Amino acid sequence: MPQRRILHDQVHVWIKPPDIPGPDLHILRSVLDARELGKAGRFRFGIHRSRYITAHGFLRSVLAPYAGRSPEALEFGEAIHGKPYLVAEATPEPVAFNMSHAEDLVVVAVTGNRRVGVDAEPIRAMKDGRLIAARWFSNNEQAILEASPPEERDRMFFRFWTRKEACAKGVGMGTSMNWQAFDTSMRPDASASQGSGNRWWLCDLFVPEGCAGAVAVEGGPSEVRYFTIDRLPSRTSAEWEWKESLPGTATRMESMELNLP
Ligand SMILES: CC(C)(COP(=O)(O)OP(=O)(O)OC[C@H]1O[C@@H](n2cnc3c(N)ncnc32)[C@H](O)[C@@H]1OP(=O)(O)O)[C@@H](O)C(=O)NCCC(=O)NCCS
Repeated sequence: MPQRRILHDQVHVWIKPPDIPGPDLHILRSVLDARELGKAGRFRFGIHRSRYITAHGFLRSVLAPYAGRSPEALEFGEAIHGKPYLVAEATPEPVAFNMSHAEDLVVVAVTGNRRVGVDAEPIRAMKDGRLIAARWFSNNEQAILEASPPEERDRMFFRFWTRKEACAKGVGMGTSMNWQAFDTSMRPDASASQGSGNRWWLCDLFVPEGCAGAVAVEGGPSEVRYFTIDRLPSRTSAEWEWKESLPGTATRMESMELNLP
């Protein structure tokens, strides 16, 4: 399989929009390993099982060309707190990735030899948004949320939520991290207020309408390249027809630098 390359200062973002259904599940299922099949089999509801199989089949089909392997030949390990990684022997060059899937949306971020985290969520009504913000958001984030007009509040909530979760997934700690201790408000004082640690770059993502998303990558500002699909694959998941997509005109996505563990 020809190798897909990534430059050091790039992040590749692969998006399966919610309205593009996956191919027949048996095709995707055929590239999963025993652990993934076991996890898929433990879902109580068929819809959750199908989404899991689609997301993991999609992930393998995205990563395979970077690793120069077929999707089913990829081997994953799991770090403490469960962050998956590609085992080094499987790739000629280091490949780091992270995946987020929510309902029928799947987003995979890929980069080289540095940590990366991604999160994407459909924006939905959050009745208890204020309570969740009080538990997880920084003071600046809470203040901005409180000050935003009611019709904007859910969008703002998910903007902050996905930014923070991208950071927490990048570090690999997920919800075990102290989310209030870092500020993703992108206020001018936010970067300066961050504590010591490693340098990270956080960027909002151009995701399908009605969703919010963000990517966090170790190091400085990076070029984000987007890839998506608009039709079903015919045979195996490795043959999904990707196209590089340029974010729409209105999109100079917001970004910031911050320090994280
Ligand atoms: C993992 C976690 C970040 C998932 O977030 P989410 O919004 O529900 O789901 P997303 O779709 O964005 O991400 C899920 C994917 O992230 C990846 N992932 C799993 N653990 C991860 C971690 N610690 N860091 C980064 N990525 C992780 C996996 O690919 C996972 O896909 P899978 O669940 O289908 O295997 C969240 O559950 C968490 O914080 N877990 C922390 C683990 C932990 O310490 N738990 C303590 C007991 S509660």
